[in-house]
Amino acid sequence: RPIYFLNGPNLNLLGQREPDVYGRTTLADVEGACRALGAELGLEISFKQSNHEGQIVDWVQEARGTAAGIVINPAALTHTSVAVLDALNSFDGPVIELHISQVHKREAFRHHSYVSQRADAVMAGFGVHGYELALRHMAQLLG
Ligand code: DQA
Repeated sequence: RPIYFLNGPNLNLLGQREPDVYGRTTLADVEGACRALGAELGLEISFKQSNHEGQIVDWVQEARGTAAGIVINPAALTHTSVAVLDALNSFDGPVIELHISQVHKREAFRHHSYVSQRADAVMAGFGVHGYELALRHMAQLLG
């Protein structure tokens, strides 16, 4: 069963958007790196991005019974979405919450995460390298 990588609003602009905060690597580059590492680890990957909260909820629901685990960068939905949290609470496998930037060093509104109520692990400030680290940890968790 695949590992779902779910990416929220504005992450389609990764590499162009606030490069001083998020770096110059694109989301397509990140996906490529995850696929390469997944092949090495023998893990299938399903990599998705949407700007729409309902689409993220739909993908989390789809993951039920389909995905072995979820790595999610909910982006701004982290700080606003009870719906994404509720959806994740319906999923049985491991959930890793990932932020490219170190959110606790940033604005106060980024310090609270609804998703952290459910996440088994939370990452922030590892840059885009966090995606590969999350995949390695997922491999460990899934044994
Ligand atoms: C983010 C941090 C969020 O606060 C922000 O809204 C994002 C990206 C990160 O990856 O650092 O869009 O999740």
